[in-house]
This record gives sequence, C-alpha cells and structure tokens, in this order.
Amino acid sequence: MKIEGKEYRTIWFENKVLKIIDQTKLPYQFIIKELRTAKDAINAIKNMEVRGAPLIGATAAYGLVLAIIENNDQSFLKKSSEDLINSRPTAINLKWAVDRMMKKISGVNSNEILNIALNEASEICEEDVKFCKNIGLNGLKIIEEIYKKKGDTVNILTHCNAGWLATINWGTATSPIYHAHKKGIPVHVWVDETRPRNQGANLTSYELNEEQIPNTIIADNTGGILMQRAEVDMCIVGTDRTLANGDVCNKIGTYLKALAAKDNNIPFYVALPSSTIDWDIKKFKDIPIEERNSEELSHIEGLDENNNLKKIQIYPKKSKAMNLAFDITPAKYVTGLITEKGICEASEKGLKKLYK
Ligand code: MRU
Repeated sequence: MKIEGKEYRTIWFENKVLKIIDQTKLPYQFIIKELRTAKDAINAIKNMEVRGAPLIGATAAYGLVLAIIENNDQSFLKKSSEDLINSRPTAINLKWAVDRMMKKISGVNSNEILNIALNEASEICEEDVKFCKNIGLNGLKIIEEIYKKKGDTVNILTHCNAGWLATINWGTATSPIYHAHKKGIPVHVWVDETRPRNQGANLTSYELNEEQIPNTIIADNTGGILMQRAEVDMCIVGTDRTLANGDVCNKIGTYLKALAAKDNNIPFYVALPSSTIDWDIKKFKDIPIEERNSEELSHIEGLDENNNLKKIQIYPKKSKAMNLAFDITPAKYVTGLITEKGICEASEKGLKKLYK
C-alpha cells in the first residue's frame, strides 16, 4: 500500500539485510531500519518496531535467514529459533513461521541452507500478501451487502491496527475496507485509538489517510454509544490467535467491543489468515497473554510545540499500573471469521469446513 503516494511493503530483504519500517516512529517519522543479525530481528519484534501477528511471523522467518548468514551451526540455529518464538508470547504466527522454516531447513547441507531459507521466508511473505488480498475480496461481499441495503456510507469500526502495517500488504481487517474503497463503495472507519500504544491512532488512521479513506479516531470507550446511535454498521478486527473453536484473542479491548456489538445487534467480524489459527490449544484460558511494561500506560510520546518527539509522564508517580496487551472474545460474540478461503462461522465446524 502507499505512503506519500509510493508503494511499500512492511518488510523486504536486500543484499543480506532485512529492511523494515520502524513502526515505533510512526506517524511522526518514516524510518526504514536495517536488521543484520537474528538478535536484531528479535529486538525489533520485542520492541514492536515490527508488530501485528502476520508481520512478526515474517520477521521471525527472516530472522532465521539472518541467523544462517551469521553462523549456520545447528545449535546456533536452534537457539535463535527458540529466542525468536519467545520474543512475544501471544501471536501464534511467530511459532507457525519459525516451525515452518525449521522444518524446511532441517537436514539441508550448508551449501544450500541459505537459499532454501531465503526462498521459504519469501514464500511466507508472498503467501501472506495473497491471503490478505483474498480476505479483502471475501470481506468485500459483506460490505457490499450492507451498502446495497443502506444506500449510504458504510461505517466500520476497527480496533488496534490490523492494517497493512500489521501484515506484509493489504492488512486483515482493513483489506475488505481497501477493496470496498477501490470499488467505489463509500466507507468511513471509526478507528479505536487503542491505548496504551495507540496503534489505532498512530498506525490505522495513518495508513487509511495515506490511502484517502475517510476515518475518525475515537477514544476506546466511544464505540458503545456510537453503536447505540446506529452510527456503526459493522465491526471488523484482526486477531493474534484464534482457536479451533472460534475463540478470538486480539488486542486488549476487543472483547468489550464485541459485547457492545452483540447488545446492539451489530455484526462483529474477525479477519484472519490461516497462519493465525491455533489448532492445538483447546481452552482460551491456556492462551499466553502478554503483559507489557506499565510505562506504556504511565508515559506517552508525541510532538511538542517545536515538532520534537517527546515522552512525558501522565500518571501520578506513586501509582501502580497494569498493562495486559490482549484479551479473548468468546466465539459466541463473533458473527463470522473472514479468511483467505471464505467466511465461516466462528466454530470448529465452521473452520473445519474451510480447512480440513
Ligand atoms: O500488539 P500488536 O500491535 O502486535 O497487536 C496487534 C493486534 O492486536 C492486531 O489486531 C492483530 O495482530 C491482528 S494483525 C493483522
């Protein structure tokens, strides 16, 4: 998708260097960062220079390529693969990508290992682009239907950033929106700010602006009243891990939006590629929920009056704060899952119809 009219992807590999857009600096600065070692990739994931489930999976895949360039000794690769998987706990795409890479390179001789790993990492990215595009085409049908009935702008609420910046291109939740916009359907997006890191304000609104899609940032608690006032036609969010039974783990606050949507009879969709499905964990209580530094809550960064980036404290110094990064929306609150293979019920039966 575009930034200042130029097409970008979120990640690419050039001359043994992994290039990423540093998302911690957006929307104020557009910086392309170079990663040269597996440790660089691990730190980029931990510090959220790259974030979003599919993108951290792709970064981990290339992280293994960087590890091979450094030292293709089996024990170093094994340690790097473990560190990459552990760099963030909740999104299943990390483990999915690392396992896929390790399977591909296991038993490969040292002359071939780099090329094989590079091809596989590139394949993971290409596949994600194709899958996200298909998610868009499938989700477009829902937006078209609402538009046909309403005959006016379709208002869509989204949470966090499940946009192209969270994937390689297109995004998951935003892909149907981009496709609708390209087809000439008038859409307007309510963008949840998404405290504490403000991925909605800093990333979703930014990328929608760059594609000229009308959007309005709202405080995270605003969705409920907008739904009561019939100012939301549908919700679409992404996910970091969806269980085979349809339970959806996503950015903290997603669950409360789903409850409000249910109470107001508003369709609540979750968009995801198959790399985000966890077929193993049976109960949502077993999903590891990331708890991040409370400083993400107590401090905030923005531009000062001289346009310099500045971090300030916004909580009382003596107050404790707690920063859980994800929550779980039980399947019963999800109207449907929009996947690369089609739309299904959020249930084992629904997912199996598409994938087994
Ligand atoms: O903590 P983040 O910014 O990595 O969380 C991202 C989200 O919760 C996204 O909504 C999710 O990964 C889906 S991305 C297509």
